[in-house]
Amino acid sequence: MNTKASKDGNPHGEEATVRGVAILGSTGSIGVSTLDVLARHPQRFRVTALTANTQVERMFEQCRRFVPAQAVMLDLRAADALQAKINQAGLAVEVLSGMEALKQVVASPQTHIVMAAIVGAAGLQPTLAAVRAGKRVLLANKEPLVMSGNIFIDEARKSGAELLPIDSEHNAIFQCMPCNYRTGESRAEVRRIFLTCSGGPFHAASLAELANVTPEQACAHPNWAMGRKISVDSATLMNKGLELIEACWLFGVTPEQVDIVIHPQSVIHSMVEYLDGSVLAQLGNPDMRTPIAHALAWPHRVDSGVKELDLFNIAHLDFERPDLDRFPCLRLACEAAHAGGTAPVALNAANEIAVEAFLERQIRFTDIPRIIEHALSHASHALNADLEAILKEDAMARDTARRFIVDMKHEVKRGAL
Ligand SMILES: NC(=O)c1ccc[n+]([C@@H]2O[C@H](COP(=O)([O-])OP(=O)(O)OC[C@H]3O[C@@H](n4cnc5c(N)ncnc54)[C@H](OP(=O)(O)O)[C@@H]3O)[C@@H](O)[C@H]2O)c1
Repeated sequence: MNTKASKDGNPHGEEATVRGVAILGSTGSIGVSTLDVLARHPQRFRVTALTANTQVERMFEQCRRFVPAQAVMLDLRAADALQAKINQAGLAVEVLSGMEALKQVVASPQTHIVMAAIVGAAGLQPTLAAVRAGKRVLLANKEPLVMSGNIFIDEARKSGAELLPIDSEHNAIFQCMPCNYRTGESRAEVRRIFLTCSGGPFHAASLAELANVTPEQACAHPNWAMGRKISVDSATLMNKGLELIEACWLFGVTPEQVDIVIHPQSVIHSMVEYLDGSVLAQLGNPDMRTPIAHALAWPHRVDSGVKELDLFNIAHLDFERPDLDRFPCLRLACEAAHAGGTAPVALNAANEIAVEAFLERQIRFTDIPRIIEHALSHASHALNADLEAILKEDAMARDTARRFIVDMKHEVKRGAL
């Protein structure tokens, strides 16, 4: 038996074949962390494609460092600007633009692993293309699964794609519940999942204080450095609601089997309770490079660059119940999870519109749940919807939410007169 570790640190001593990795959303928070992990293991991974929306400068720097075969900017003008820089630098990188290009690069035979890290529903089509092409898909972008979990799981079963969760909570659950998500093996032995939640930056804030929070305060998460949309979702606790729906799809459990636990230290990333009373937890410093490295190398383990956990420094681990009165987004998400069908589609769409409006200072933080509740009350809640019906529901809920925001602004103006 070969007991020597290989050059890239594979403890199993195997000389790994180099696996091609495409990153959807490489210029974002998860994209950058993924490149950090990949750069530590050049013998194991090669970057085949990078994609973004508009951030040309950052994309160019990434192309210079990792020289992917292809770089895609969704935005055509951004792609032209990138092309000019690539030409000037003489890099052998093909520059593409548009949604079809995103779908094409993830399905390339050179790509074995796809990191799905676009933010929001915009990631649905390219992530689904990666699943249909039978790739290992690292799912950071939870919104597509929330919208169309049944379609993702069905397509993964058909194509043989591996769906590995990147959300730290779901990655923790996956590590504690090595079930085969395609066949559902071992779920019968699971009693409950404890989905942990830091509580966000306004964990202790009163309702009156919540009404006045600014986008800057909402984006300043106490434990995690993340993109702006997920930071606001973490502050409203909508992120935890979306994660509950994501957990039901990925692990084949019911919403009743998922308990949300506020754990301010963000050291336990989630837990699984079995029928015999055993509770398994995964712990670690709050750094997304741990789940990213885990899913890239699975079933092996590789260095992620994350600091060792200092239990003596942490000393205390606290647990509380979430307050659904101060954080109604979580209540709305739980209701949508129970309703099923396209309710989560409307929830997610209205949330994206409301968060965008909050970040643009058009509405208050406490208006976010009002907008979502309004959109949910006007949604069709269709069961067994196909992709077309899902996209229609998504568009309808966005429209309802936008019109409600306009009405709210008129109301505020009238009040001020
Ligand atoms: N950040 C975290 O710690 C974390 C943890 C768990 C799960 N997640 C999930 O991972 C996903 C990404 O989060 P993030 O924090 O990394 O977001 P982010 O920092 O905002 O990055 C988003 C990425 O998606 C690209 N993008 C945005 N809109 C796009 C569009 N319409 N079409 C194509 N690409 C588009 C952006 O490109 P430009 O830069 O050009 O705009 C950027 O590369 C989210 O679904 C989030 O919920 C994140």
